[in-house]
Amino acid sequence: MTAAEDPMALFHTWMERASCAERDDPTAMALATADPTGRPAVRMVLLKQADARGFVFYTHATSPKGLDLAANPRAALCFHWAQLARQVRVDGDITPVSDEEADQYFATRPRLSQIGAWASRQSQPMTGRFELEQAVAGAALRFGASKVPRPPNWKGYRVVPQRIEFWEERPFRHHDRRVFVREDAGWRVQWLFP
Ligand SMILES: Cc1cc2nc3c(=O)[nH]c(=O)nc-3n(C[C@H](O)[C@H](O)[C@H](O)COP(=O)(O)O)c2cc1C
Repeated sequence: MTAAEDPMALFHTWMERASCAERDDPTAMALATADPTGRPAVRMVLLKQADARGFVFYTHATSPKGLDLAANPRAALCFHWAQLARQVRVDGDITPVSDEEADQYFATRPRLSQIGAWASRQSQPMTGRFELEQAVAGAALRFGASKVPRPPNWKGYRVVPQRIEFWEERPFRHHDRRVFVREDAGWRVQWLFP
């Protein structure tokens, strides 16, 4: 399959360009979830892997987004690369990243980030920075000089794409939009009005 037919190949081509062109965080993406009543929420996360299986990010399973995804395992992603005037939108079902894969990724993180993952009760109220610093110091003491394991509640999520849309700016708002929709045998490509 060529990049013209394979959205993941096209995504990688665009991500490579973005990695050269964008000063900060080309892998940053908006992640939209919804709770069981349909109330949406959106926040930024970092893409950690993208391949034929989908788009992976990591977070705390007990955070609001983790709870949304436990109740309603669907999500949408949006990348915006301002320097390239390009956007990619993805939506699909969520499958969990295996514990083994999450452990492998967690082991590559800086030690202070690993300790931070143990210290944070993500999105819970805290009294001030001192409470966070105490929690970080507590986690650092707990592990001493030994390897920091992945917290059981710190997990990987894979968005298995059902649709991937590529948007590119053109003069006078005559933008290019192509959406790839997953079908049994592969992907169907459809142009959209801008
Ligand atoms: C550029 C950027 C990247 C971020 N990446 C992550 C991430 O990969 N995982 C994560 O849990 N939070 C990440 N955050 C923080 C989230 O946006 C959010 O504040 C946090 O996860 C709590 O979200 P929730 O309360 O909706 O669960 C990032 C924030 C920014 C601005």
